[in-house]
Amino acid sequence: MQTFEQLWASFREEAVLSLVEQGYFSQNAFLPADLLDFLAGRAQLLAEKDLFREAAIGKGLIKTKNESIRSDEIRWIDERDLSYEHVNGFLSPLIDMVKRELFLPIKRFESHFAHYPVGSLYKRHSDRHKNSPSRLLTCVIYLTDMEDGDGGELVIYPEKGSNVKIQPKAGKLVLFKSELEHEVLLARKDRWSLCSWLRDDIDSVISL
Ligand code: OGA
Ligand code: MN
Repeated sequence: MQTFEQLWASFREEAVLSLVEQGYFSQNAFLPADLLDFLAGRAQLLAEKDLFREAAIGKGLIKTKNESIRSDEIRWIDERDLSYEHVNGFLSPLIDMVKRELFLPIKRFESHFAHYPVGSLYKRHSDRHKNSPSRLLTCVIYLTDMEDGDGGELVIYPEKGSNVKIQPKAGKLVLFKSELEHEVLLARKDRWSLCSWLRDDIDSVISL
């Protein structure tokens, strides 16, 4: 079986070039099927146990809930979660790669499962907050397929050139510079994903 080091290495040149030139990289069927099944099942189970929460916008004391801007539900993955080791397993070689190839001073990652119920969206935003600039790279893995007409596309607005619309497909990977503006269009079907951020700080004092 291929290790995650080998998996990332097989996309290294393409990913690095695309991140440098466009600020994003997308790859269909990236995640091995067994891990995809495990993570999708895990997200489903956590949701059935009612462990997802409405997502907030902003950070710390100015964190607010506003469903017209963002209406997904999330579940942070901490070290006690069964998913943690698997997520760590595929993000660690990515962190090594971007440190080496892009000179990003990554110190840690954070991840959450996200569920966009029918009718939810996340309006245009950046993941690198002005008052919390520690997120450098965003990594999204989709856990379900969205077909034409299902909505829920990720739209990325690169610094130069026109915007790109990415349709979620189970196992698909998207990496983009966290500073880039992006949005999630209205989902007309349940949309599940695993979102991670590679950060340049050691730890956050304020709870995630
Ligand atoms: C986010 C986000 C994109 C996606 O959670 O900040 O923009 O495609 N997610 O799920
Ligand atoms: Mn975002």
